[in-house]
Amino acid sequence: MLTVEKLGDLTGKKVMVRVDFNVPLNGKEIRDDNRIVSALPTIKALVNKGGRIALFSHLGKIKWGKVDDEEIAKEKAKNDMQFVYPRLKELLAPTVVKFTNATHGEELKKAIDELKDGEVLLVQNTRYEKGESKNDPALSADWASNFDVFVMDAFGSAHRAHASTYGVPEILKKENKTCALGYLMEKEVKNLRRCVNPDAHPYVAILGGFKVSDKIKVIDSLLKKCDRILIGGAMAYTFLKALGKKVGNSPVEEDQLDYALKCYASGKIVLPVDTVVADDMENPTAIETVKTDAGIPEGFEGFDVGTETIDLYKSYIKDAKIIFWNGPVGVFEKDVFSKGTIAVCKAITDNKDCFSVIGGGDSAAAAKQFGYADKFSHVSTGGGASLEMIENDGHLPGIDVIGE
Ligand code: 3PG
Repeated sequence: MLTVEKLGDLTGKKVMVRVDFNVPLNGKEIRDDNRIVSALPTIKALVNKGGRIALFSHLGKIKWGKVDDEEIAKEKAKNDMQFVYPRLKELLAPTVVKFTNATHGEELKKAIDELKDGEVLLVQNTRYEKGESKNDPALSADWASNFDVFVMDAFGSAHRAHASTYGVPEILKKENKTCALGYLMEKEVKNLRRCVNPDAHPYVAILGGFKVSDKIKVIDSLLKKCDRILIGGAMAYTFLKALGKKVGNSPVEEDQLDYALKCYASGKIVLPVDTVVADDMENPTAIETVKTDAGIPEGFEGFDVGTETIDLYKSYIKDAKIIFWNGPVGVFEKDVFSKGTIAVCKAITDNKDCFSVIGGGDSAAAAKQFGYADKFSHVSTGGGASLEMIENDGHLPGIDVIGE
């Protein structure tokens, strides 16, 4: 696939870059700028090639259709790309970085046409347009009409076939215009493809998080690729209940019990042998560790894996050659329930012979919080995208549309 590196001189060319600036916010404050920082190599390379760069990204979700105009205005105000603008300007200095509130039509065209070579324009949130998430052909055509080149660098959004990730490059490809992958996309695709087509074994996956139902497709896919899947987090209780264990007040998806049993029959699933339980997550008055065989008593809920489970996990992690991790194994945000997730970070990064990948989301946040992120081979910027990439054997709409 064509990549930024292979693009020649872009002087005078108008370049649309789809980035993923969907950063976590605290009001107007950016809580983590990693996604902006990750897009910088591509933006800087395009600036150096003399292109006139327009950056498009969504920020948050705007629930079109379900709410009235006033509600939509409130959602737009919460997800204003202007919150991202100062940080972007700072990171790209001394490059000229402009902002436009326009998201379509003449006003947007004018802002793009006014760009000089090597200048950057940040466009308002793509989801301010109702047609973005629907991949509306008229919106895609309007955006595409402004550009000579399209660069996809929004790995976190590459599983969305939206107007800015799919519709625009689809049109530009048909017009024989240049479409390329950015550096971040290239890195993500290369690293995640090793988790899709493992070139070494044992390959161990660690899956946590809340729901089995969210992970069905990825479990199905990983069962074909992995030697072991270590299950933690709240989704473990559905598996344990399916095996006839007592799980107390822990959350269980009753409609996934048969599926859990079917997966367990593969012989590849490793479940917690003990659990840290408490009477309440926010204000626990009683915390103890119970063995899985004894079961979690009524009135108690599991919030982390216990020390014997940590040892069991370690026995698989230490020999692994490839590890894919998605989802914390406990409520790591609370100190008392963070030991399991910290132990997973440590065990993976202690294994210097393995290729280790975190599939974005909460596990990436945990690794960062506990100081392990830099020690992994790759920390993906896309939670949903990395899971879908594994589910779909390396294919995502935002990658496939760029073509060979
Ligand atoms: C993400 O944060 O996972 C991506 O930016 C995609 O966001 P979305 O789930 O709102 O499409």
